[in-house]
Amino acid sequence: MDQLAITGGARLAGEIRVSGAKNAALPALAAALLADGPVTLANVPHLNDVTTMIALLGRMGVTVTVHDGLRIEVDPNSLEDCRAPYELVKTMRASILVLGPLLARHGRAEVSLPGGCAIGARPVDLHVEGLRALGARIEIEDGYIHAEAGRLHGCELLLDKVTVTGTENLMMAAALAEGETVIENAAREPEVCDLAAFLNSMGARISGAGSDRIVIRGVPRLQGTQYRVLPDRIEAGTFLVAAAMTGGRVRLREARAQDLGAILAKLREAGAAIDSGPDWVALDMGGRRPQAVDISTAPFPGFATDMQAQFMALDAIARGVGTISENVFENRFMHAPELQRMGADIRLEGHTAVVRGVERLRGAPVMATDLRASAGLVLAGLVAEGETVVDRIYHIDRGYECIEEKLRQLGAQIRRLARGSR
Ligand code: EPZ
Repeated sequence: MDQLAITGGARLAGEIRVSGAKNAALPALAAALLADGPVTLANVPHLNDVTTMIALLGRMGVTVTVHDGLRIEVDPNSLEDCRAPYELVKTMRASILVLGPLLARHGRAEVSLPGGCAIGARPVDLHVEGLRALGARIEIEDGYIHAEAGRLHGCELLLDKVTVTGTENLMMAAALAEGETVIENAAREPEVCDLAAFLNSMGARISGAGSDRIVIRGVPRLQGTQYRVLPDRIEAGTFLVAAAMTGGRVRLREARAQDLGAILAKLREAGAAIDSGPDWVALDMGGRRPQAVDISTAPFPGFATDMQAQFMALDAIARGVGTISENVFENRFMHAPELQRMGADIRLEGHTAVVRGVERLRGAPVMATDLRASAGLVLAGLVAEGETVVDRIYHIDRGYECIEEKLRQLGAQIRRLARGSR
């Protein structure tokens, strides 16, 4: 199991390119199953989760070709099997995203239940209920979702909770349904908008993506297309927080300020000067120590839960006290005890953390528990005295492309240790 060794103290400076968004690439790869011709995706990041999704498509017999390392071509007509097995689904919950497309295009699907994960139970009941409302016959037994359908029929769907992949699964299924489907209380994340645009480029008729009411007029078929995945707003936010924590100055190419509203507002509150253009965002902290900020996570356009751990690391070394409320997942503070081992002053009270900033953290061996928690620990290592070794960084490789290379480009002292080497 690889580790990342970070020696704190460097002030980050320079420019990097933001990779394509993991949480847009994964639904797009699943959506390719809806087409009756080849689909080519550009700007897909090299991430373990993307590799897993490609392996899942391959397991179903779908031909996936990677061109010059950047473009991925999916030929959905080679599909032989509508089964997503547990051994793949358990490593990546987003595998559930093949359920809607398989049902809509092939009328059957056998997808393993994803099971819980470190940050919470994360059920998929809203996915299943919505597909049943669209006409699917679904039984859950032996840990699998067994689904069948003739042609799905459009209907009014009201989601009890805002669910990103739930909205995406239902939007994909409705794209080929008979008649019109309305999704009320839909997720508004930029990745949902990107998926709608991708589906429309295949001939779907989707409007309202980005609002909480999405209207899908079903069509009989969807054709192959070429599409470029949008930049990863969480990767961008993570690097902006790293620069803010180290008092640095960075410029991110291919970052979209319109996807980062709540995050940029909190960085300005922390004392950062932010500037942006159509496809770039710049942050200048001017060598200052950040001011603590209060965070309360919510669905987009609220503050992203995927940025909570990174801001806890910022508050840990900020001036003053910040409170962090995690309102989306039930167990997403696992980075707190690891930060405390580095000297952070954090008091947990239910789903709220009270963080009193300290002047300096101390480097220590820490353990990653989930994707974004591990990012928070890396950021803490950038400002800690001495060396921090983050273990189990397979978590971080799921969602960040070449994180140590990009941080080194900005002046960080960070290196990857192969298992057992020192
Ligand atoms: C997506 O997960 C993201 N993953 C997550 O990113 C992100 O943290 C999350 O949205 C929230 O923004 C992908 O897009 C692949 P939800 P998702 O369904 O769709 C409850 C990362 O770091 N819920 O919006 O699984 C659920 O338990 C990952 O890249 C139900 O109760 O999240 C949670 O409390 C981590 N029943 C809340 O809704 C359901 O059927 C929001 O979950 C579905 C969800």
